[in-house]
Amino acid sequence: MSIKKFAILFSGSGSNLEAILQKVHGKTFANTKLECVLTVCNKKDAFGIQRARKFGLETVIIDNKNFTNREEFDAVLVSEIKKYDVDLVVLAGFMRILTPVFTQEIGAINLHPSILPLFKGAHAIEESFNSDMQVGGVSVHWVSAELDGGKIIAQRTFERSKNMSFEAWEDKIHAIEHELLPETVINLLTK
Ligand code: GRF
Repeated sequence: MSIKKFAILFSGSGSNLEAILQKVHGKTFANTKLECVLTVCNKKDAFGIQRARKFGLETVIIDNKNFTNREEFDAVLVSEIKKYDVDLVVLAGFMRILTPVFTQEIGAINLHPSILPLFKGAHAIEESFNSDMQVGGVSVHWVSAELDGGKIIAQRTFERSKNMSFEAWEDKIHAIEHELLPETVINLLTK
């Protein structure tokens, strides 16, 4: 049996972090044990920190407010990740634009709440809901220097129901995220 290690980066509530920890961390798939060895957050009060603790993981806080530019923040992030010899870095609601200081050094995947390349950026759920599209969805893609622009790995869609409310649209996206991201981590680390 082999062991593959991964890290999770997050910024807020951490529901996707929890979904990965529940479904993937410490579990064996195709004779490979998958271990989350590092959680990193850029906000010291993020709720995800408590969620990680339930799984025995103490989150490393790297507060972006302590840095004058993105490159300095990214350099510290990269050096922290490199201490752990991970096979994959997972961005699960990590709300930072990353520079080449990060993207050229770290193989990372990101979760995005739309059918990319549509609705890039921080307001994808609202913008997709307010569009006339009759499907919504979720994407997982490789992280590149272009925001939400790296190669797409996995996508899942749903149909807009009649008179669907914004809350229902948002709930559907989050429910899909909690399935698709753990599945993608498993697929990438066991192939
Ligand atoms: C998710 O909707 C993700 O797609 C977006 O930020 C949200 C994070 O939610 N980038 P959570 O912190 O995992 O609950």
